[in-house]
Amino acid sequence: MQATQQIDGVRPVAFVTGASYGIGAACALALARDGYDIAISATRVENLANTIARLKTSGRRVLPVALDLNQQPSIELAMAAVIAAFGRADVLVNNAAANLRKKALDITPDEWDACLRVNLTGTFFLTQQMGRQLIAAKRPGSIISITSVQGVIGADQRSAYGIGKAGVMQMSRMLAIEWAEHGIRVNTVAPGRLDTESPSRKSTVGREPDYLTAMISKIPLHRLCTVEDVAAAVSYLAGGQASYITGQSLMLDGGLTAC
Ligand SMILES: NC(=O)c1ccc[n+]([C@@H]2O[C@H](COP(=O)([O-])OP(=O)(O)OC[C@H]3O[C@@H](n4cnc5c(N)ncnc54)[C@H](OP(=O)(O)O)[C@@H]3O)[C@@H](O)[C@H]2O)c1
Repeated sequence: MQATQQIDGVRPVAFVTGASYGIGAACALALARDGYDIAISATRVENLANTIARLKTSGRRVLPVALDLNQQPSIELAMAAVIAAFGRADVLVNNAAANLRKKALDITPDEWDACLRVNLTGTFFLTQQMGRQLIAAKRPGSIISITSVQGVIGADQRSAYGIGKAGVMQMSRMLAIEWAEHGIRVNTVAPGRLDTESPSRKSTVGREPDYLTAMISKIPLHRLCTVEDVAAAVSYLAGGQASYITGQSLMLDGGLTAC
C-alpha cells in the first residue's frame, strides 16, 4: 500500500504472529511490500515454509520464530529472538489465535482455558513484551490485533472465542491510553467471515455452500472478507498515514455490524 520510510536510516521491523497460512501470511507479505523486515511465528516453524518462500521475492530479511502463546517463556523468547536478530520491532500484528466452536453448555473448563489462554492472555503478554521493548528503546510503534466481528455481535457456538476477541478489543483501548505518551498506537482489525483454507481447521462446520450463501445474503456488500482486505487494513494502521488513530477497532465486515 504505502512505502514505509526508513527510521533513523534503518529498515523498520514488523512481527506477525501466526503467519503459517491465510491472514497472517497475507499481512506479512503486505508489510514486506511496505518496506518492513519481517519476523513471522507459528507454533511449529516448519509450517512457515510456504510463507517464507512467498516472502523471498520481497528482498526483505525474514526471521521465522517459534511461538506458543500458551507458554510465557515462549512469549518472552520469541520477542527476544526478534530483537536479537533485528535490534528492534516497530510493528506487532497479533494474528495467532485458537479456534473453538462449541455450544456454551458443552464447553469444559480445560477448553475454555485453552482458548482464552491463547487468544486473550497470551496475546496480552506478547503485547506487554512489545510495549516494554519499545518504551525501553524510546521508540514509537504500532500494535494491531486481529479480532473478529464475533467480539462485537452474538453468534452460535462462539462464546469462548468471541469473549476472547472482545477482551482483545478492550485490551487495545486500555493500552492505547497507557502507551499514547510513548507514541505507541494500539488498534484492532475485526474481520467478518473469511473463507480461508487452513490445515488447522479440520471441521467443515460453517463451510457448507447453503450456510455460506445465507451468510453472504446478510452482508450489505454481499461478499465474504478476503485476506487481502485484512492485510490492507493492517498495512494502513501500521504506517504513518494512520498516525492519529489509536484505541480503535476497524470493522472489516462489509457493513454487517452497521445493520
Ligand atoms: N478465518 C476467519 O474466518 C477469521 C474471521 C475473523 C477473524 N479471524 C482471526 O484472524 C486470525 C487468523 O485466523 P486464521 O483463520 O487465518 O488462522 P489459522 O489459519 O488457523 O492460523 C492460525 C495461526 O496461529 C498459530 N497458532 C495456533 N495456536 C497458537 C498458539 N498456541 N500460539 C501461537 N500461535 C498459534 C498457528 O501456528 P501453527 O501453524 O504452528 O499451528 C497458525 O500460524 C485469528 O486471530 C482469527 O481469530 C479469522
